[in-house]
Amino acid sequence: MTRVVVPRDFGSPDVLELRDVPTPEPGPGEVRVGVRAISVNPVDWYHYDGVHSDDPEDLLTFGYEVAGVVEALGADVSGWTVGDEVVATEVPGNGYADQVLVPASALLAKPARVSWAAAASVPVAGGTAYHALEVVGVAAGDTVLVHGAAGGVGVLAVQLAARRGARVLATASPGNHDFLRSLGAEPVAYGDGLLDRVRALAPDGVDAALDLVGTQEALDTSLALVADRDRVVTIAAFAVATQLGIKLIGGGPDADPGTEIRPVGQREVLRLLDDGVIDIPVGRTYGLDEVADAHRASIGRHVRGKLVVVP
Ligand SMILES: NC(=O)c1ccc[n+]([C@@H]2O[C@H](COP(=O)([O-])OP(=O)(O)OC[C@H]3O[C@@H](n4cnc5c(N)ncnc54)[C@H](OP(=O)(O)O)[C@@H]3O)[C@@H](O)[C@H]2O)c1
Repeated sequence: MTRVVVPRDFGSPDVLELRDVPTPEPGPGEVRVGVRAISVNPVDWYHYDGVHSDDPEDLLTFGYEVAGVVEALGADVSGWTVGDEVVATEVPGNGYADQVLVPASALLAKPARVSWAAAASVPVAGGTAYHALEVVGVAAGDTVLVHGAAGGVGVLAVQLAARRGARVLATASPGNHDFLRSLGAEPVAYGDGLLDRVRALAPDGVDAALDLVGTQEALDTSLALVADRDRVVTIAAFAVATQLGIKLIGGGPDADPGTEIRPVGQREVLRLLDDGVIDIPVGRTYGLDEVADAHRASIGRHVRGKLVVVP
């Protein structure tokens, strides 16, 4: 049997329940992965909270990325063998399970030195952070402002930007400032006076900005500081990005699909993790019977690094 977490209806994390279902058998082009870690993303609870979506299909689709071991191969699968350690970059259906079916085309090899928790967190957080830096062209000598830097995408954006040779100014609450310094950023408290605080740190201006929170403050500050709107990107303010003339990743027809950038970024992040030059800090791990608690923490919007479920 396979254990799987299912939202029985729309609502709060209280709707999540753990069920036993028959072990799935891979069809043509699929592999079955024995899951070692599942990465928690805000989009998981957007699917069932009844606010972001009321599409019944969304109740069947959450938990996008896992890391684990190949257990069984369907017909027409080549390049993978049972026992391979993998990252599944896109789990169709429900990834909150101890066994999942994944198209072989959505697998990346997990480097042996990368932890299960870090590996599971690479596709969405790593892919998005890399993609955001690419679309605004962050390079050596730039000063870049990262809003929401202490979260899952932020911790990777900060480290990747610093590795590119950029000076990184990063917003977070004061309790995360030492944490952000340890990742290579100069922290700035968000809230009233943010624009003045950033100007004081960077009197010569800011070259690019990444909005990873979608607040009006993050958008206003970015637009006030960055002269070229092509060098401002949001991953969260879907409704207004086009109107503001800034770049948008994910979420709707105007988004940059990043079909080529994202896998390149995921591979690059895995390589840098394997080399030990970046890290994915994991705030807390949860059991499969604690997914509701993990989602409550995510809904609180003050996660440091990543939350991970270990079945
Ligand atoms: N478009 C895409 O493809 C894509 C991909 C991934 C994620 N996303 C979206 O991007 C956002 C970030 O994702 P994530 O996984 O990084 O989320 P996350 O891990 O839940 O982010 C939590 C972080 O947000 C910070 N934060 C909360 N309020 C803030 C504010 N007013 N100003 C600045 N920082 C604030 C918190 O820092 P403090 O605790 O210090 O306040 C915390 O560290 C989410 O909305 C997510 O849905 C979009």
